[in-house]
Amino acid sequence: MTIPLPASVDEALALLTRGNYVADRSLATALFLALKLKRPLFLEGEAGVGKTEIAKVLSETLGRRLLRLQCYEGLDASSAVYEWNYARQMMEIRLVEATGSREGGGQDRDTLAADLFSERFLVKRPLLQALEPDPAGPPVLLIDELDRTDEPFEAYLLEILSDYQVSIPEFGTVHAPEPPVVILTSNRTREIHDALKRRCFYHWVDYPSAAREREIVAVKAPQADARLAAQVVGFVQSLRGMDLYKAPGVAETLDWAQALVELDQLELEPSVINDTLGTLLKYQDDIARIQGSEAARILTQVKTELAATTAR
Ligand SMILES: Nc1ncnc2c1ncn2[C@@H]1O[C@H](COP(=O)(O)OP(=O)(O)OP(=O)(O)O)[C@@H](O)[C@H]1O
Ligand SMILES: [Mg+2]
Repeated sequence: MTIPLPASVDEALALLTRGNYVADRSLATALFLALKLKRPLFLEGEAGVGKTEIAKVLSETLGRRLLRLQCYEGLDASSAVYEWNYARQMMEIRLVEATGSREGGGQDRDTLAADLFSERFLVKRPLLQALEPDPAGPPVLLIDELDRTDEPFEAYLLEILSDYQVSIPEFGTVHAPEPPVVILTSNRTREIHDALKRRCFYHWVDYPSAAREREIVAVKAPQADARLAAQVVGFVQSLRGMDLYKAPGVAETLDWAQALVELDQLELEPSVINDTLGTLLKYQDDIARIQGSEAARILTQVKTELAATTAR
């Protein structure tokens, strides 16, 4: 039995919540519309803000298969869509040759050619798999980090996402009976072509507000004490306001909270911050800038702000 798609923005929000994803209303709205109108959802945002996670959560909560295409420079159709299994085809030819000469007859050429280009020898990659019918409903197709591929691949993708079909010259056309749920993500290391964006619902996944990030920590790192979680979030949010080479994402917040739990910390202290900054910042220049007096200054400021909000 297929799990029905959300029928409203509230239901889309509830669906994400069920998958332990803390979303705001604008994301739930974009998701609801993309699902309802069967359009791909294009998620752009900084690293570690929860773009990939949305596709995983959708596949889990909708009970659909997750097909993931990780993009990289030089990605081509044979890795993304299909290729023929040449090794097996060669073996088949040898086998037919061998039995043919033994039995004095063998398969005629046309039958052999048709057989060699049948489904048996077709290696299906994620984009082709996503077009196949599935009793659980159309799969979730995650096209992750699209900005890492090149423009020719983008154009090719545009073609597939336009009519959800792939034509394989030796085999025929594979057409999806129902479009898959498509999630595209980009870290915006380059701009994605307008033509592709136009096909999709676009949503910018921003860093969460402090309140939402505390909720995320509560859901994903529940072992962290509430006071520790509030301080961690306050500290990370301050870092995001500074001009760092690479600001920490939600992934880093969670890693840091988990690291502090492992160290049995009930609250932040300057020395522990210095020793664990590597879970939060991944560039030595950023670490050198924050370590020491700057970390202590931010911590004092965070504690003062938190005390003021609790007093209110
Ligand atoms: N709103 C959220 N609710 C729950 N978990 C979240 C949320 N945002 C981020 N996370 C968690 O943060 C981590 C990073 O998320 P994810 O990998 O999806 O980020 P991303 O945007 O795809 O990053 P990148 O651009 O580096 O691939 C995951 O463990 C995810 O569970
Ligand atoms: Mg990702």
